Amino acid sequence: MPAAFHVPSTIVTGAGASLELPAQLKRLGVRSALLVTDRHFAQNGLAERFVDLLERDGIAVSVFSDVQPDPTDRNARDGLQAFRESRAEAIVALGGGSPIDAGKAIALLAANPEPLSQYAGYHKVPHASAPLLAIPTTAGTGSEVTRVAVITDTERDVKMMILDTHLLPKVALVDFELSLSMPPALTAHVGVDTLTHAIEAYVSRKANGMTDPIALSCIRLVAEHLETAYNEPGNRTAREAMALAACQGGMAFSNSSVCLVHGMSRPLGALFHLAHGLSNAVLLPTITRFSLPGAEERYATVARVMGYASAADSDEAAARALAEGLESLNARLGITRLRDCKGMEAGRFEALLEKMAHDALASGSPQSNPVVPTAEEIVGLYRQVW
Ligand SMILES: [Fe+2]
Repeated sequence: MPAAFHVPSTIVTGAGASLELPAQLKRLGVRSALLVTDRHFAQNGLAERFVDLLERDGIAVSVFSDVQPDPTDRNARDGLQAFRESRAEAIVALGGGSPIDAGKAIALLAANPEPLSQYAGYHKVPHASAPLLAIPTTAGTGSEVTRVAVITDTERDVKMMILDTHLLPKVALVDFELSLSMPPALTAHVGVDTLTHAIEAYVSRKANGMTDPIALSCIRLVAEHLETAYNEPGNRTAREAMALAACQGGMAFSNSSVCLVHGMSRPLGALFHLAHGLSNAVLLPTITRFSLPGAEERYATVARVMGYASAADSDEAAARALAEGLESLNARLGITRLRDCKGMEAGRFEALLEKMAHDALASGSPQSNPVVPTAEEIVGLYRQVW
């Protein structure tokens, strides 16, 4: 089957990449922009640095910083209003996955009628979005290079996945220097999210010849550098490698797919506000073990790339070593069991299991998994990770 490959037309990487923002906006003919970010970056001075940078170059800029973690359809609607009031011609999204996903939704709504929920699913956006430039500060979701946005539908308490080529940023400025101040726990969570993107892209039924080498490169970078970035936050080599890994992981899954881990992770985010990276990390070892029989050879390759198995090991032994290796990686990164995560409550978790299994399947992601589970099996897997 033919496979298409979509990435931003411009990806700038390396120290200082974000300083290219004025030049990139000018190249696109943009004279005024809306900077979409969250409260953290509005308060710590980073948003202001970019405002100054743009104004010095004669580009008008307004700031919309009302994006919450797990951004919602309401955030997108408020951002759209700010976009219209400021008469901006483009959107600059600055932050982790939440501001970038919100930026994608605002850019989409700037050119397509509301409500946002009608675009949930695959390829339902009729018109090209307003131009979007993305500057990630975490390594990360890879959202700066994907055609996916995850936005909470506040009416149904569901994390909607919107996948459409119109969501792709025009420019991604991947500047690892912005990630140097990430605290260790966040580094761990988004780092394992990055790893999950690449593993899922590689074992997915939608994997293809373009995504495979990018996914494997991401996996190698994470194996070599995540723990250093976690233990030594100021280590520039590790931070640069993780920023590249996040970008590659994003490119890989956006053009292959995510699978069961992400399918089961989104309901935990929507219903318990568990951070995206953490919920993936908690699920990854168990879901990997469940999925091994469907793609043993591929999981074995991942294990060898990560250094958990050697060429001499059988595929079966290597694949098993991967599930064990991911478990110990979690432990070294301080990632606990689901029941120990903040906000998780046993009674509510039990009561919501059926809904979570239903929502996971409805997202479409589990259908790309090497082993496609039933709703009952998903309930069983949630109980196992508890
Ligand atoms: Fe993710």
